[in-house]
Amino acid sequence: MPRFPNIAEHANSVSHRVYSELAERARANNQEIFPLHVGDTYRDPVMAARAEAQKSEEHPGLHAYAPVRGEPALIDAFIEYVAKRHEATLDRDRIQVMSGATAGLSIVCQVLLEPGDEVLLPSPFWPLSRGIIATKGASPVQVPFYTRLDEPGFDPEAALEAAVTDRTVALYINTPNNPTGRILSETTVDAMLRVAMRHDLWVLCDEAYEEIYFDREPPTPIWLRSEIRDRAVAFHTLSKTYGFAGARVGFTHGPAELMGTIAGMQTFHTYCAARPMQLGAVGALREGGAWVEDSRTLYRDAGYAAADALGVARPQGGTFLFIDVSPHLRSGATSSFAFLERCADAGVLLTPGASCGDDYAKWVRLCFTSVPPARLDSALGRLAPLFQTPGG
Ligand SMILES: Cc1ncc(COP(=O)(O)O)c(C=O)c1O
Repeated sequence: MPRFPNIAEHANSVSHRVYSELAERARANNQEIFPLHVGDTYRDPVMAARAEAQKSEEHPGLHAYAPVRGEPALIDAFIEYVAKRHEATLDRDRIQVMSGATAGLSIVCQVLLEPGDEVLLPSPFWPLSRGIIATKGASPVQVPFYTRLDEPGFDPEAALEAAVTDRTVALYINTPNNPTGRILSETTVDAMLRVAMRHDLWVLCDEAYEEIYFDREPPTPIWLRSEIRDRAVAFHTLSKTYGFAGARVGFTHGPAELMGTIAGMQTFHTYCAARPMQLGAVGALREGGAWVEDSRTLYRDAGYAAADALGVARPQGGTFLFIDVSPHLRSGATSSFAFLERCADAGVLLTPGASCGDDYAKWVRLCFTSVPPARLDSALGRLAPLFQTPGG
């Protein structure tokens, strides 16, 4: 049957218009806009990583294709990083360089999922994770989770178990979490993995914020647990750790046999990650240690300042606050949209909580690293009164 002018059904789940209305509203009323809806950093990466530091005369074929698996020097640098950070050895044949964790999750889902499959998606979640799963024709099964961890009697294992069906094929775990800033405890991870083991699920470990943790020991990576070594696929990215989001470089690793198929699938998607930026990424991994330390302190200070200014709990890691604004909504309101409009009128853009899960329509997400500290202060000054106003 002809399709024109229609599009494929699975593409209807994808929307890119989420913020435009609020952005227009903010622009109409303000000289200065504070884009706290964008999950990015104001910091430029270390010199050795920057685009302008990559020179054709130093790298013959700088703009040629890289090997599909990734630039060998970058794979070496990542193996060294993992050895130093986690005291673990990662074999080359388990590593795939990808155009960020977004491409990583997308390509892995393309390999693992069939239409109709279900993926357990503890919520709230990174907005793109739901769409990536949905674009494969699979169902992201949302399980309210990170915001419930402190609820007396909340049982993480029972919550996930109740969502398992005979179509469930994978469990996605993201810690430190976008958007809550929560770092999962060992006990919670144990409970989650029991469900994965019991039902033979793939475990998708999103490590995007692995280096952004505050006033605590580094989180222990889930993918390193021996009981899931055969089923864990991990996603790392330089976007958050090294301020490299636009460079689009990340790593995916998992069981060697699976990674062979993933390399094949990557060939048909992006072929390779951008070679100049892979070479920049070598510079980030080799010379970015102090930069990462500084970021951790700067981001912690920003996260704590934002939480204190708005009267909410301080984040444990990551780059976001996730806030229930129902006390500031009119009774009967079904979403945070009116609140987001008030923020936009004050020049500050925040993310609707609904993009992080269906149960969070009355929440908002704020990124505290997208603008420098002085601008964050100004934005918080504009937001604070709105967070004190009862909804009525
Ligand atoms: C939890 C999480 N995973 C993955 C990504 C995507 O990272 P990348 O820039 O490497 O595609 C993000 C980006 O915001 C994220 O928050």
